[in-house]
Amino acid sequence: MTARQVRIAPSILSADFAALGAAIAAAENGGADFIHVDVMDGHFVPNITIGPPVVKSIKRVARVPLDVHLMITDPDKYAEAFVDAGADMLSVHVEVLPHLHRSIAFIKGLGVKAGVVLNPSTPVVALEEIAGEVDFVLVMSVNPGFGGQKFIPKSLQKVTAIRGMLDRAGNRSAPIEIDGGIDLSNIARAVDAGVEIVVAGSAIFNAPDPTAATKALKDAAAAVAS
Ligand code: DX5
Ligand code: ZN
Repeated sequence: MTARQVRIAPSILSADFAALGAAIAAAENGGADFIHVDVMDGHFVPNITIGPPVVKSIKRVARVPLDVHLMITDPDKYAEAFVDAGADMLSVHVEVLPHLHRSIAFIKGLGVKAGVVLNPSTPVVALEEIAGEVDFVLVMSVNPGFGGQKFIPKSLQKVTAIRGMLDRAGNRSAPIEIDGGIDLSNIARAVDAGVEIVVAGSAIFNAPDPTAATKALKDAAAAVAS
């Protein structure tokens, strides 16, 4: 594997929602490259989290770009609102989008990075026709909806297969992000498989020192990537 810069995207889903500013600052002080924001609507996933007004407030305090992960049934309807609120990267699930090509073009047209997300049970082939168009791919390594779930190891094979698919499509610069159950025990395997953006929620915000936890994950990833 050639030298790559692996970036860390702490997910605030596991942070104290009454103190998001402090949580974000703590992660940034540990070297967070993005802040990962999980948007859930109670339909696509069995949980409800936050909407554009909260993203707007987060945007005022975050020093790094916002990586907004839409786990909602109608991302076409809400994409613009999240971009207006401050999303810098916006990812949408292939499972809910019959016109994915149009959705990705629309998000890119809003001036942000457009990503597609695959659930654990969604085959890699679902990306085949869009692989040349995406700015990044997010591989779910748990079933979306909650933080603190157990990592699904088979996700790593998907990462490697998707890396090959993106490269064959001429999209070598599009990074693969992984989300779910990542901690110090498996981050090295994820990076080795081809991951370049690592989401971590409970491993950072359930740790006694989120700054140190962010730094530890970043160092562990860098050790593999270099
Ligand atoms: C799950 C979310 C994740 C979640 C990850 O549906 O998409 O971003 O916050 O949390 P951990 O790292 O605890 O699995
Ligand atoms: Zn997420």
